[in-house]
Amino acid sequence: MQFFVDTANLDHIREAAELGILDGVTTNPSLMAKEGISGEKNILQHYLDICKIVGPGRDVSAEVISTDFKGMVAEGKRLAEIHENIVVKVPMIREGVKAISYFTEAGIRTNCTLVFSAGQALLAAKAGATYLSPFIGRIDDMGWNGMALIKEIVEIYNNSGFETAVLAASIRNPLHIIDAAKAGADVVTCPLSAILGLFYHPLTDIGLEKFLEDYRKANP
Ligand code: E4P
Repeated sequence: MQFFVDTANLDHIREAAELGILDGVTTNPSLMAKEGISGEKNILQHYLDICKIVGPGRDVSAEVISTDFKGMVAEGKRLAEIHENIVVKVPMIREGVKAISYFTEAGIRTNCTLVFSAGQALLAAKAGATYLSPFIGRIDDMGWNGMALIKEIVEIYNNSGFETAVLAASIRNPLHIIDAAKAGADVVTCPLSAILGLFYHPLTDIGLEKFLEDYRKANP
């Protein structure tokens, strides 16, 4: 399973990249706004900065804000021209599916976002989406089971031979990451804090402390 960070924060992206475990980045308009990035020129430059940090071969999802086919196509083309890492992120609406089909024909990679059902997952895969982003955390927030949707989509894609990668999104904690891996997700995108949460186990800290103490005793 690939690890993406879900952020537009350059320090977090750098920190994840330095760990040597980063496969890509996803962003969305809310995450860009959170970093204070606004205006088309600054937004495009920020995406370029992210691509340079992650390095070659690591996908960076950049989301369109148009909601009509023509607008999404024009915007998606501009985004795709920024850097070869860019994947155009398109919302799961009728015009979005049309745009994904267009981008597929044009050889532009896409990430279908705001996915909350197996039916939507089928439509995106039929249109040739490169990635599909079901929002696990937001489903859990409603009292439903986000991970059950990941399992359902993985089963459907395996049965039908779709090549669209299942990208578990809206991840809230380390357990979500582990469960997504168990459910067969191809990619997980999460805040840096959820990735760092995977490190911690008190027995590791206690064990390391004892090893070092014993070493110091034997090597006064
Ligand atoms: C996915 O690509 C989205 O950017 C993201 O995972 C949404 O997460 P949230 O529900 O925490 O906003």
